[in-house]
Amino acid sequence: MQLTTKLFSGFFLGLFFSGAALAVPDINAGKESAGMCFGCHGAEGNSTSSNFPILAGQKPAYLVNQLRAFRDGTRDNAMMKNMTSSLSNDDINNLAAYFSSLKNKSAGGNEELAEQGKSKAPMCFGCHGEGAKGMGVTPRLAGQHPAYLQRQLHAFKEGTRKNGPMRGIAGMLSDEDMNAVTEYMGSLK
Ligand code: HEC
Ligand code: HEC
Repeated sequence: MQLTTKLFSGFFLGLFFSGAALAVPDINAGKESAGMCFGCHGAEGNSTSSNFPILAGQKPAYLVNQLRAFRDGTRDNAMMKNMTSSLSNDDINNLAAYFSSLKNKSAGGNEELAEQGKSKAPMCFGCHGEGAKGMGVTPRLAGQHPAYLQRQLHAFKEGTRKNGPMRGIAGMLSDEDMNAVTEYMGSLK
């Protein structure tokens, strides 16, 4: 756990001083450019396909970090690299403010697996917030597509997604744990 604690504090300090959230965002400007996101992420960011994460109600600081990471190549995804390559920091802040202001519609999860995954969840709440509603740069997991969350946990475990402290945490979870805990997260509102 000590490594996790170290990663945790280093990560948060780095972000608090990077200035990502300093400018005052313009939600209306974000709304105007968000149309190009709906095709994949669903109307108002409530995607109905697990290929695309739900963005509605996600934490703004987390969204800012991810959009910058896709643009700068520290999170690797060809579609999102393409979508973010021409966005300025202000565009990113505005889009993040807009999507975070929308109401999240829970994707739901498999009831039986969710019940099994419940016992693993408290160790996630410490960072992801009570009920996994997200906290600052740590994403909301509540109501997210379980299959999307599973892919991300595998990406962290395999090291193809690198930012933040999740590699060590995902490394402690078996495939069964991952399936169960993500069905539980998806089932939350
Ligand atoms: C062509 C389809 C497509 C379009 C259009 C698109 N995205 Fe994405 N987006 C994706 C995919 C696929 C992922 C998942 C990437 C992965 O697996 O790491 C993603 C992931 C994201 C994430 C990470 C969410 C998380 O929970 O970590 C954010 C934020 C995001 N997109 C924002 C946007 C915004 C804002 C726009 C519009 C400017 C947009 N996307 C347009 C396909 C798209
Ligand atoms: C030490 C703090 C910490 C703990 C504990 C933690 N997380 Fe995370 N998690 C994070 C941070 C920070 C991120 C964002 C990483 C980034 O910026 O890419 C994250 C990202 C994620 C993502 C990616 C979500 C997305 O939308 O792409 C998943 C999935 C995830 N965590 C699942 C879990 C689960 C399940 C647990 C419990 C078993 C857990 N986390 C415990 C800090 C933590």
